[in-house]
Amino acid sequence: MTVNGGRRLTGAIRVSGAKNSVLKLIAAAILTPEACTIDNVPRIADVNLMLRVIEHLGAQTAFDEQGALRIDCSGMNPVDTPYNLVRQMRASISVMGPLLARFGRAKVAMPGGCNIGSRKINLHIKGLRELGVDFNFEHGYIEAKADRLKGADISLAFASVGATENIMMAAVAAEGVTRIENAAREPEIQDLAGFLRALGVPIRGEGTSTLEIEGRAELHGTHYRVIGDRVEAGTYIIAGAITGGDLTVEGIAPRHLGIVLDKLGEIGVNLDTSSESVRVRSSECVCTDVCTLPFPGFPTDLQPQLMVLLSLASGTSILTENVFESRFMFVDELNRMGCDIRIEGHHAIIRGVPGLSGAEVSAPDLRAGAALVLAGLAAEGTTEICDIYHIDRGYERMEEKLQGVGAAITRISTGK
Ligand code: EPZ
Repeated sequence: MTVNGGRRLTGAIRVSGAKNSVLKLIAAAILTPEACTIDNVPRIADVNLMLRVIEHLGAQTAFDEQGALRIDCSGMNPVDTPYNLVRQMRASISVMGPLLARFGRAKVAMPGGCNIGSRKINLHIKGLRELGVDFNFEHGYIEAKADRLKGADISLAFASVGATENIMMAAVAAEGVTRIENAAREPEIQDLAGFLRALGVPIRGEGTSTLEIEGRAELHGTHYRVIGDRVEAGTYIIAGAITGGDLTVEGIAPRHLGIVLDKLGEIGVNLDTSSESVRVRSSECVCTDVCTLPFPGFPTDLQPQLMVLLSLASGTSILTENVFESRFMFVDELNRMGCDIRIEGHHAIIRGVPGLSGAEVSAPDLRAGAALVLAGLAAEGTTEICDIYHIDRGYERMEEKLQGVGAAITRISTGK
């Protein structure tokens, strides 16, 4: 991707459906033999991968001419979920809960780490064990079996998004009530709860730290719409701020960005919200301190993007990453563009600089790739970002959406 910086972004961008919700709704469709239709599905690489995973397990999937996704899991066969799929996208682990609920067994390759951390799944395993699942780990695979799932009171040591989701979906078939304490509260969790309720699952408490799921309800199909992607929205809001533009980001519920908007306001960004949009105009930005936390804390998925904005704010900011153990890998690339960022353990000390200069950089992961695009939009001169396949995992048509509001950004077809 090539970006010529210095252009103010003006106009409106519509975000797509939330990647970190829709991947789990696709997995949750396994729970019922009746067909499900999902609207507002983002056309991104991770969705294609998740569809390949459930098709490998026997599901039929198709997009209609309006872009609605139809999933039919009537003819499922719970064979292995192979390593070559799981290693490309660790979210494949989300099929484990629904396979256990529907078939009482699942065999999924153990997800490896990635560029932002080890990505353990011990909390998934602990919670599922408490529902009566037995595990065998060998040859890089997780073999899970449950003759009878029994509801339990499960308390998570950390409000893990993935663990909450896998336990929620397995609990759908457990005898009695399952209560999850210290459950994740993300909007994507709330969306999965809404989807399960639409299938016929009695579920309560989504958005709070305590979820209750009543098992063994009769399930049916549903027609459901995914929420807007708050991370995509936050990325473009920061793009508007960093270019000194006047940009309206549509298709998002501002309440899903709560603390993000508070922090941007603290930095000096002017924000106006409506029920499904945020208008951003920027003025001089000042430093602040931020720490990432599970929702409703500041989202780790917007940490790299905020770091770029803080690099151009006056003063020194401290950004603390509490969710992943190594989510600062991209800082060296930013410093090559003129940022002045020093890492001390979980803290990034960000000294404001007057400007950035375009350079050749490489995207190490999805959100760092997006942050490098933001840096390119603000930099003087040309920035060439390679390995943009990372960006395509979670951003639908990013260059088109940015071109539509005045960015000089093109995808060069060198396949890099
Ligand atoms: C989801 O990952 C998202 N991915 C991530 O977004 C997001 O950053 C993360 O939640 C936190 O919000 C999807 O939804 C597909 P976690 P997940 O379980 O479920 C540790 C993006 O850019 N942990 O809340 O893997 C783990 O190591 C991606 O869109 C355990 O120790 O997040 C990590 O440090 C990146 N044991 C922390 O918790 C476990 O069993 C957060 O993990 C599970 C997690």
